[in-house]
This record gives sequence, structure tokens and C-alpha cells, in this order.
Amino acid sequence: YARYKKNPVISLSERQWPDNQIEKAPVWCSVDLRDGNQALIEPMVVEEKIEFFQMLVKLGFKEIEVGFPSASQIEYDFLRQLVERNLIPDDVIVQVLVQCREHLIERTFEALNGVKKAIVHIYNSTSALQRDVVFGKSKEEIKEIAIEGTKLVKQKMKDFEGKIILEYSPESFTGTEVDYALDVCEAVLDEWGATKEEPVIINLPATVEMNTPNVYADQIEWFHRHLKNREAVILSVHPHNDRGCAVAAAELSLLAGADRIEGTLFGNGERTGNVDILTIAYNLFSQGVNPNLNLENINEIIEVYERCCKIPVHIRHPYAGKLVFTAFSGSHQDAINKGIKAMKERNQSYWEVPYLPIDPADVGRKYEPIVRINSQSGKGGVAFIMDSCFGFKLPKGMQKEFAKIIQEISEKQGEVAPEQIMEEFKKEYLEAK
Ligand code: KIV
Ligand code: ZN
Repeated sequence: YARYKKNPVISLSERQWPDNQIEKAPVWCSVDLRDGNQALIEPMVVEEKIEFFQMLVKLGFKEIEVGFPSASQIEYDFLRQLVERNLIPDDVIVQVLVQCREHLIERTFEALNGVKKAIVHIYNSTSALQRDVVFGKSKEEIKEIAIEGTKLVKQKMKDFEGKIILEYSPESFTGTEVDYALDVCEAVLDEWGATKEEPVIINLPATVEMNTPNVYADQIEWFHRHLKNREAVILSVHPHNDRGCAVAAAELSLLAGADRIEGTLFGNGERTGNVDILTIAYNLFSQGVNPNLNLENINEIIEVYERCCKIPVHIRHPYAGKLVFTAFSGSHQDAINKGIKAMKERNQSYWEVPYLPIDPADVGRKYEPIVRINSQSGKGGVAFIMDSCFGFKLPKGMQKEFAKIIQEISEKQGEVAPEQIMEEFKKEYLEAK
């Protein structure tokens, strides 16, 4: 990531860098194994969940929501397997979701038996719509559910040997009056006795993304400013992507005061998904901020994800898609070619190439497929392929003529692979002689 720091060579008078940028990575919490898994057509089986969990650990996640163990046997068994097979590293905290109901909280603690440190994540829906049409309860009654849940966890915790951190989510927060949501959260914090030393995670989910991302960030900022004892709270966001703005919502929330993000790899999750943690992390990386995740092998992440979730990663997915480091148009190819050449000539340590926001090698991709040749390509692209794939520097005079030959072929057949370009070159110039 250090290659993407602010450019020390070009002065501020030549290029202005915005000063309101995110300066450090948030605390990440993966909810792939719960929110992501519950939205799969074919949910993961225990062995797949274990493989996915181990990948999350390898990626550097320190907080992982492993499921809703009181909701199904498979979720319960998975957590037991993690414990019994000693698969939870000491520096990783497992998180479990549970509703504010006594028998479910009891069963959750049974599943946690033997865990050294866990986040118990309780939630209840607080939105005006759900209070009315789903629960038929008043604001006070809904608040009481949250307080009761907090009491129950506190009680159960007494007989538990490991350490428990409380997380509370006013579910459907985006449909909840913000001052009422704060009132409920303050009641939870008071009931728990949250302190700076023993903070509670207050997670404000965009259960449904209902507004432009600035509105969500404003709600987070309002909370951040109005919490009675801000130091006793880890302020967490949990954006869903109904309007396609979850990444923007999460990033603006960090600027607005959030400390933590719950999301998934590639944005899997209910409906349009949860926020895509990888995109946010790569965005930070490309701005010179250490994302605190090990992101250098995107291909391996994709392989495990696609196999366990049975969902393909879109070819244009930011940073990860198959086509995101390719350039089809001639002018783009030419500019990339010149950018790479200039970097080499200047012996430049920081990355700055037109149309390529990051060096593909930084995510485990190769240079070779960057430029693909089809009917949109120009002479620069063909020359680049000849040089980068075969070390063959086409003289300027020849570039235009040879590119025309390749363009005619691609108009008939579509994309022309580097090997075919070389074959055509041989046919045209070497064998003819
Ligand atoms: O989206 C949501 O509201 C949730 C909660 C359970 C946190 O997943
Ligand atoms: Zn969710």
C-alpha cells in the first residue's frame, strides 16, 4: 500500500489532494458465515464453513460472525467444531447473533462453551413500520425487549468462563427515528454498564438501504455526536446494498465517525447483499492506507468464495473481476503502454499509470492479460503485446501497418490472442521474406 501514498514528488500547487480522506482502516467484521450464508440458495455445509472461516482468518479478519447457533443445528454444530477442533486463533474473536429471547440466548451460550472470547450480538427491530405491522408494540415495549436481552446476556455471562463483549443492533435502523434509536441504545449501554475499558459495540444496520449514502452517514454522525459516553462505544455500521451504494455509505460513515464495518466478501448477503469489504479495503490500499487485511492473492479468495458460496464473481467486480485489468480500446492501451514505460524510465516507486488505479501484480494478477486485442484496439496495443509478450519492439513505421492487419482479423473473429498476433507477424514479415 505504501506505493500508493500521496505523491511526494509533485507539489501541492500542481495537484491538490483532498484532506478529508480516510486515514486508517476500520475494525473489520466479516458476516459472511451468517448474513452471507443465510442468503445463499444452497447454504454452506459445516466443512465449507470451516474452509471459509480459515480463509477469513488467513485474510486477517479479527472479528468473524460465525452464525446464529440457536437458529439451526448446522450453525450450532459449526461453532462446536470450531471449538472442539481448536480452530479459533487466540487473536480472533468469534461473533454470534441471537434475538433477545431467553431460550435462544441460553442455547447460544451452550454453543459458545469453551470459547475464550466472543461477541454476543443481540438485536431487535426498532423501525416505525415493524413496530406497527410486525410486532404491534409501542416504542417503550420495543425498548424493553432490548433491555431484557441485555440483562439476559449479562446474567448468562456470569457462569461463562471466557470473555464476552456485547453487541447490540437496533435492526431496521434506517427506518427508525434516529433519536428513538439512540434512546434504545443508551438504555442498552446503561443496562450493561459500558465503559471505556469494557465498551459495547453499537451496530447501526442499514438493514434496508433507504436513502442516499450521505443520509446514512449523517445518521451515523448524529449518533457519534450525541452518544452520552462515546468512549464506551465501538460505533459499527452494517450497510446493505439495496440502492447499490453500500460501499459509499460505509466510506462516508467512516468519515462521519464510525469505527467498525460489518460486511462480506464480494458483497454477498440478503437481497442485493451486504457491503463488500474487499472493495472498501482495496480502495484504502489504493490510497496508501494499510487496510490491515492480506489482499495480495485475489485469485485464491475468488476460488474459495465461488466454490463455497456457489456464486460467480462478476467479471467487472472492482479489483477482482476477470476484466478489470484489461483495456480494449486503442487509446487506453496506448496510454497504459506509455504510463508503464514512463514509470520504468523515471524509476518511479509509486504507482501511476493511466486507466489502471492499481498495479494488477498487487492483487496477484499478471501483466500479460492487461492488453487484449480486438477490433477496438489501435497500433499502441498491438505494439505493446509484441513487446510485453515476446520482447519484440516494432519499429514505429511498422506499427500502423501491422495493427491494420490485426484489426481486419479481429473484425472477423473477435479477440486476437497474443500467440496469433505473433503468428500473423511471422506470416507477414518473416516467412514472406
Ligand atoms: O441487516 C441487519 O439488520 C442484520 C442485523 C441482524 C444486524 O443483519
Ligand atoms: Zn444484515
